[in-house]
Amino acid sequence: MATITIVGLGYVGLVYGAAFADLGNTVWGLDIDTEKIAKLRRGVVPIYEPGLHELVRRNVEAGRLRFTSDYAEAIPEAEFVFICVGTPSTVDGDADMRAVRAAAESIGRHLRGQTIIVNKSTMPIGSGDLVAMLIEHVKPADASFAVVTNPEFLREGSALHDVFHPSRIVLGAEDRQAAERVADLYRVLNAPVLITDRRSAEMIKYASNAILATRISFINEIAQICEQVGADIKVVAQGMGYDPRIGPLFLEAGIGFGGSCFPKDVRALAYMAEEVGCHPQLLHAVLEINQDQRRRFVRKLTELLGDLHGRPIALWGLAFKQDTDDVRESPALDVLRMLLQRGAVVSAYDPAAIVNAAREIPEAQYVTDPYAAVAGADALVIATPWNEFKQADLRRVRDLMRTPIILDGRNIYEPDEVRSLGFTYVGVGRGH
Ligand SMILES: NC(=O)c1ccc[n+]([C@@H]2O[C@H](COP(=O)([O-])OP(=O)(O)OC[C@H]3O[C@@H](n4cnc5c(N)ncnc54)[C@H](O)[C@@H]3O)[C@@H](O)[C@H]2O)c1
Repeated sequence: MATITIVGLGYVGLVYGAAFADLGNTVWGLDIDTEKIAKLRRGVVPIYEPGLHELVRRNVEAGRLRFTSDYAEAIPEAEFVFICVGTPSTVDGDADMRAVRAAAESIGRHLRGQTIIVNKSTMPIGSGDLVAMLIEHVKPADASFAVVTNPEFLREGSALHDVFHPSRIVLGAEDRQAAERVADLYRVLNAPVLITDRRSAEMIKYASNAILATRISFINEIAQICEQVGADIKVVAQGMGYDPRIGPLFLEAGIGFGGSCFPKDVRALAYMAEEVGCHPQLLHAVLEINQDQRRRFVRKLTELLGDLHGRPIALWGLAFKQDTDDVRESPALDVLRMLLQRGAVVSAYDPAAIVNAAREIPEAQYVTDPYAAVAGADALVIATPWNEFKQADLRRVRDLMRTPIILDGRNIYEPDEVRSLGFTYVGVGRGH
């Protein structure tokens, strides 16, 4: 069993800290956010991720998982240090590496003996070299280290499942032995392991996110055409998905992708491509279609209702997808902003993301009950496909609304069923 320190306890770091502890390792979770550390020490998990609270609690109680803000406490004894800090977009689309740089230098100063540094954050191609250089400059003379790139593919909302049942473990290293040692940490999970160079490993992450985002923009473009020619995108996607060369996943039309990964990673890949003289037309189109999709969606509402000024609108969904409280680059928040800018009086509900949304858009009105949101509304807008919305009592919704209109940005309902209840229903790409 290994001694591991996880640097950065966000959606990735906290899940990994708890998971590695659960596999029997001794883990320090480190974050510079002292409030977060104080919460974790009190047993409060600061993010919503199904199963995470229990996993953290179990491992803290077993003494395998501890939290600190102090690099001097957590780094010297560690055999492995995982960098899991955020790499958000800069204004020009590049990945913001300030947190990675700061973490690398703090780690470097406290190294002792032999340590393997694992880059788990999504970092631009060449970042393995950068982290190695930063650490080399500040580390004690007698400390030695290797940097292994280990990109992460977990999905928020099913992070625990993904961590314990990974589709693959990708490791990039100049030092094969170091990569093998990181592979050993994952061995019990029985996943395919791919060991390559650091740059290829870094590119695998960006290219993987880019193709998934491309599939979403592709199906959204097909959905736009479906609307004009009277075809139903749900059936079209189903028919396409049976083909094993195509597959059914990531072919759901809607208001587009969001979250803390796809938009920023596609932007960063396009930025990198341009920096090296390439012309990433497809990546730009993927992003453009994604933004258009939100605007087109809100336009449908104005086509139905006319001027939105002063109109009461219910919004169901704020998180960027179901089963998370994450609102980073959430399409739902963009829809909310557009509705507010058009003067609508929005009453918004989400099962998990209200606190985070209110931090971003304090001027909106939030309610803690989905039926309170629809009371007196002229339209119900669905922006996140939570199960709770799929199972809603639509008769009750209809009776509470002033005008029974549903604008379904996630195609969670069947048009005929909803119309038979007396609603005007508009989805994305659902025929005429
Ligand atoms: N969220 C996902 O679903 C997901 C999936 C795959 C990969 N990734 C990648 O993993 C990385 C982390 O993503 P996240 O969503 O967990 O991030 P996050 O923003 O939720 O968390 C990052 C954490 O790092 C901490 N931090 C910042 N600077 C620090 C420093 N110098 N020392 C210690 N801690 C520091 C922050 O306080 C924060 O708690 C990103 O590069 C992301 O692209 C994320």
